[in-house]
Amino acid sequence: MKTIGILTSGGDAPGMNAAIRAVVRSAIYYDCKVYGINRGYKGLLEEDLIEMDLSSVGDIIHRGGTILKSSRCEEFKTEEGRLKGVKILKKYKIDYLVVIGGDGSFNGAQKLSELGFPAIGIPGTIDNDLAYTDYTIGFDTAMNTIIEAIGKIRDTSSSHERVNIIEVMGRYCGDLALYSGLAGGAETIIVPEVNIEVEEICNKLNATKKRGKRHSIIVLAEGVGNAQDLGKEIVNQTGADLRITVLGHVQRGGSPSAFDRILASKMGVRAVELLLDGKAARVVGVKDNKIIDMEINKALSMKKEFDKDTHEMVKILSR
Ligand code: F6P
Repeated sequence: MKTIGILTSGGDAPGMNAAIRAVVRSAIYYDCKVYGINRGYKGLLEEDLIEMDLSSVGDIIHRGGTILKSSRCEEFKTEEGRLKGVKILKKYKIDYLVVIGGDGSFNGAQKLSELGFPAIGIPGTIDNDLAYTDYTIGFDTAMNTIIEAIGKIRDTSSSHERVNIIEVMGRYCGDLALYSGLAGGAETIIVPEVNIEVEEICNKLNATKKRGKRHSIIVLAEGVGNAQDLGKEIVNQTGADLRITVLGHVQRGGSPSAFDRILASKMGVRAVELLLDGKAARVVGVKDNKIIDMEINKALSMKKEFDKDTHEMVKILSR
């Protein structure tokens, strides 16, 4: 009988629980024993492990967050920390490790594989910043959270004839801003991948104002910089009545969308099947609506391409 360890690491994302459920239930289906490792790599180093059974993952597919908790672990970034981790995994007779998280967590999995410990990654992050996969688990739910917020802010923006900047997460990736801005009908979307001058934003505001449109939504990706500085510049140049909303961690929570639950379930099962097939040091993803897997080294070396065409298209639509 093989034993699989599973952990969630880095920023949590809606759908992580659905992925945990899929890994645990498919592993048990294939006669494996499963250990849940609490609080990511940190919990591993603290030997915070618990054996999981079918009912450990009952009633969680719809829940946000992660029942295994998550953390970012500095100690695991060191060789010493990782060697300690492998020792603990071996102590519990764990044969394989499934890591659900973003690029930082995948780095940990890659390093474990280099030490000869078979690990596999499932992409769980709201940022959608991994180049090898079309979608990461949590992105769709976060996008829906953002468009709900944009809709509400739009109501008051329209009543008060204001300019509203809405800052969204995504780290250095503009996907959350781009697609939620498009779906939310934002007038301007500012992302790290495309340079835009404040003057251009102000010219657009002035032009639409002349046409009688007196409110405007600007979606700003956090990776671009400070919303306060941008707001001040816009007020100086246009005299607009402007408000700023930093959506923050509300974007990380909530019940996962159907899309994220389905994606997480399919990826979880694939991860277990790959490990039992003797394939490790890989990551699972989705490309053209098909579940794929790839060498972790290759996946981490790929550079994410920003969807510039859609960003351009938004300019046509948001006038
Ligand atoms: O990677 C997910 C993410 O939510 C980013 O979008 C954001 O920059 C970061 O995590 C926030 O991290 P923390 O929860 O540690 O403040």
